[in-house]
Amino acid sequence: MVKICCIGAGYVGGPTMAVIALKCPTIEVAVVDISVPKILAWNSDQLPIYEPGLDEVVKQCRGKNLFFSTDVERHVSEADIIFVSVNTPTKTRGLGAGKAADLTYWESAARMIADVSKTDKIVVEKSTVPVKTAEAIEKILTHNSKGIKYQILSNPEFLAEGTAIKDLFNPDRVLIGGRETPDGLKAIQALKSVYAQWVPEERILTTNLWSAELSKLAANAFLAQRISSINAMSALCEATGADVSQVSHAVGKDTRIGPKFLNASVGFGGSCFQKDILNLIYICECNGLNEVAGYWKQVIKVNDYQKNRFVNRVVSSMFNTVSGKKIAILGFAFKKDTGDTRETPAIDVCKGLLGDKAKLSVYDPQVTEDQIQRDLSMNKFDWDHPIHLQPVSPTAAKEVSFAWDPYEATKDAHGVCILTEWDEFKTLDFQRIFKQMQKPAFVFDGRNVVDVQKLREIGFIVYSIGKPL
Ligand code: NAD
Ligand code: UGA
Repeated sequence: MVKICCIGAGYVGGPTMAVIALKCPTIEVAVVDISVPKILAWNSDQLPIYEPGLDEVVKQCRGKNLFFSTDVERHVSEADIIFVSVNTPTKTRGLGAGKAADLTYWESAARMIADVSKTDKIVVEKSTVPVKTAEAIEKILTHNSKGIKYQILSNPEFLAEGTAIKDLFNPDRVLIGGRETPDGLKAIQALKSVYAQWVPEERILTTNLWSAELSKLAANAFLAQRISSINAMSALCEATGADVSQVSHAVGKDTRIGPKFLNASVGFGGSCFQKDILNLIYICECNGLNEVAGYWKQVIKVNDYQKNRFVNRVVSSMFNTVSGKKIAILGFAFKKDTGDTRETPAIDVCKGLLGDKAKLSVYDPQVTEDQIQRDLSMNKFDWDHPIHLQPVSPTAAKEVSFAWDPYEATKDAHGVCILTEWDEFKTLDFQRIFKQMQKPAFVFDGRNVVDVQKLREIGFIVYSIGKPL
């Protein structure tokens, strides 16, 4: 039986390995992590992440050929293939702070692999890493090799949160990069045969290591760039009377452009887009490609602009002050169908409103009160000026309350901000909400989920991203 071990039981490691275990019953898969609470949760009925369809997959395989464990060293030493899916955040200190990827977790995983391995291993980069990371990993492994052979592969993950299981079952492509040597090609084939159990052969792409590493950063940069492009257009729509939904529909009909990922929003969030673009910018700068770096920087700048623009719109619409006014925040996760709040635009919007002394009442179906409190009280890391961390006002947290449903959140509120596109927000009883709000009642839709016309008929003053005012 082939044995796979995955280091890192997070948003990528957990679902990816669960699907490999489901699709490959003859492979034994162990997912290991240094976090004891996380592994306990993976072994319980309350998984550590919310992802549609994940519970069923885990239930089918756990205890059969899928195991979650903190015994990292034993599983690594027994495995034939080791996936490394640890976090690779942006460095906050030292050389490259604010841009470069922090590979501390990766390096410690690689050193541990070198320490405990007694047989040849295929080591797979699953985390998103800078180009040429495989070279550094190879050095760490081979300098301590004791005669053991290692093959490093790059197999970046393209799943999106909220649709992880769907994406893993039916990926657009699986990308495997490796050394173009006989041993490298053999390793590529070994990993390919795992995915080939359920992914059609023509969707499994093989490349050299550096192309695979760079393709992951490029794909995320292209996706984020589309959002910043449509968000930039949304500002122009508001200034001219065009409607961004009509513009994106018309633009997306061009088969060369395509309709996906053109939804204007309050800004993109999530743990990866900003981090990966910053990483790309750093690599460009290190290679003296300052114009290229500047091009990608603009994608993040437009995203920051969009979040600021939203806050300014709320404050200016509400007679230039939200001081002491209750504002309902509907949705805090960075997108629907996830409880993940990493880099969610809601953090910036809430902080902006708190800065203007608003009182917030937050409702999100999947985010806990603790998480929201933590997110709002943490210093915001400023990628542009990493040294100048913004101080947190100790009084700000007191101005945030948590609601169990949207009706509680909106009771006596002056305004409503919709910051996540949860489906349930599309079918809210806005008549009921209007009745219980202060007047004039404002709705600021950061995700374009409400029917603007209908709400205006009820009596709301409505602002929707990129729509005529
Ligand atoms: P995560 O923070 O959810 O999970 C990482 C896990 O690694 C944590 O549980 C942590 O405890 C564990 N870990 C860190 N160092 C360890 C060590 N030395 N030994 C054992 N465990 C260790 O992160 P994630 O969202 O799963 O992302 C992981 C990587 O995948 C990142 O590089 C990210 O860019 C990339 N990625 C993420 C997504 C996504 O949707 N979240 C999608 C594609 C790629
Ligand atoms: C993204 C990519 O889509 C994945 O392919 C990639 O694997 C992953 O990053 C990663 O490397 O971590 P994810 O961040 O989970 O996935 O979710 P997306 O669906 O890409 O959404 C990202 C953000 O963009 C969300 O805040 C979302 O609301 C926003 N978005 C998305 C828009 O504002 N408009 C759109 O049209 C699409």
